[in-house]
Amino acid sequence: MYEKEVLRRRAFAIIAHPDAGKTTLTEKLLLYSGAIHLAGHVRAKKERRKTRSDWMTLEQERGISISTAAMQFVSQGYVVNLLDTPGHQDFSEDTYRTLMAVDSAVMVLDAARGVEPQTIKLFHICRERKIPIFTFINKMDLPALDPFALLDNIESVLKIEAVPLCWPMGSGRDFKGFYDLERKQVHSFQKSVTSAYPACEQITGLDDPRLQEIMGEEIYRSFREGVEIASSALPPFDYEKFLRGEQTPVFFGSALTNFGVEHLLKEFLRLSPSPQRVITEDGKIIEPASEKFSAFVFKLQANMNKAHRDRVAFVRILSGRFERGMSVFVPRLNKEIKLTSPVAFFGQERNTIDEAYAGDIIGLINPGLYRLGDLLCTGEPFLYNPLPRFAPELFARLILQDTSKAKQFRKAIHELSEEGVIQLFNIYEQTPIVGVVGQLQFDVLLYRLQDEYAVPARLESLPFQVSRWTHEKHKEKFSRYDMLVYDSEGNLVVLFENEFRLKSFQEKYPEVELFSHPPQLALAAGRK
Ligand code: G4P
Repeated sequence: MYEKEVLRRRAFAIIAHPDAGKTTLTEKLLLYSGAIHLAGHVRAKKERRKTRSDWMTLEQERGISISTAAMQFVSQGYVVNLLDTPGHQDFSEDTYRTLMAVDSAVMVLDAARGVEPQTIKLFHICRERKIPIFTFINKMDLPALDPFALLDNIESVLKIEAVPLCWPMGSGRDFKGFYDLERKQVHSFQKSVTSAYPACEQITGLDDPRLQEIMGEEIYRSFREGVEIASSALPPFDYEKFLRGEQTPVFFGSALTNFGVEHLLKEFLRLSPSPQRVITEDGKIIEPASEKFSAFVFKLQANMNKAHRDRVAFVRILSGRFERGMSVFVPRLNKEIKLTSPVAFFGQERNTIDEAYAGDIIGLINPGLYRLGDLLCTGEPFLYNPLPRFAPELFARLILQDTSKAKQFRKAIHELSEEGVIQLFNIYEQTPIVGVVGQLQFDVLLYRLQDEYAVPARLESLPFQVSRWTHEKHKEKFSRYDMLVYDSEGNLVVLFENEFRLKSFQEKYPEVELFSHPPQLALAAGRK
């Protein structure tokens, strides 16, 4: 029913190891799509945001990106939703959730470094989902590894076929452009940092004598050799394999100097998939263009705008048409909710929207109503739970330092645990237990408690490294070395000292079921 709108939707994320050039590429993609007119916009925004909110200061101090921003823009008739993935490994849960909301990804590699640790983690999340991945090898204007070595590196580390769609003409100071292997076109390099210039195209082809002139004999020779091998010896680009996430098309360029970005954008829009059908856990098929609306909450963020202290639920539309003011059913709450003030994002800016379709990311101002993974729908509810929680590996008691702030403390930890910043156990006890996947989450927790809620607190670490969900009936089996706690949904969780203790428990009691994700929330099977 809404095929035309769905076909022009794209939802993607850029994944990269910190410093590879994600921010720069984002900015340049926006520049080439006409969404911004001046380079420096995203970075300036990033800076302004940092200075405006102290919360962002933590990011600034650590030189990392924690929060996930969404941007929507129109490019060549496509409505593009770009989700920013937090760069730090400690935020793998948040990152994971973001990657559940996209249909494809662009992986940025630093040409001098190739695949780096954070790239591997992010790549594997995309791999699990079998979403198509583009590779952009950035910083070709600086000394770079040999293109073949880079392709080998991708293939050997990530175990994915890497197929170049273009071939670089030199690198570093000798970077002169690239050759489009498919269209057999030379794009020569014109340095430009501030504005988007189309590459000049006076060169007629590989045999144009000007090419040798520009590149010098030696680089020209190795470039010709490279093109020869890339065109004849490497596997051809296979669109179906790409869609299945088995092959990645590789582009070379320099985001800082704008080179190769326009080509990447064009190819991205041409090749990336529009929103696909979803098969739910209860076997239903959700078609993106169907008339029934459905969407899920993949991110909650409190205090995005300090002035308003509001909370935003980021929602990814799976199917149907969204209209401002429409009523949707939320199975977990067994309730109809009217969506009155939906917004679309552009970094920190937001605009009220009137309609949206599958693939779009919208923000709902959330007065504590939604939870991560919540389904919103107008048709028959279904089971769809793309956001598993991870078993925390670090635990601590959270101790409120100023007891007169108990009420504010409750509110704060409740909101932050709903946001997924931490996992909370024994929530009703005076000193609840906090579980996280990485140390930085602890730092962020204390910082935000103080900064946003004026609640000073401290952590007292607990000697456990492994957690597993289990059933009440097994309670008696655990020893005094293990700790039994309850998650915020009231599910029983056991904390083990280490993997060794977990293993010996499993050997002793093979019949006890232990889960590394919480048992799935029983969503209402139908409207009551
Ligand atoms: P990130 O978001 O992935 O962390 O990377 P970001 O874009 O912030 O880029 C990291 C650094 O690399 C920045 O320099 C940026 O200017 C530079 N950079 C990005 N792409 C290219 C490129 O194609 N060529 C070259 N030569 N440099 C590139 P910085 O000095 O850390 O920051 P800034 O002072 O430029 O803001």
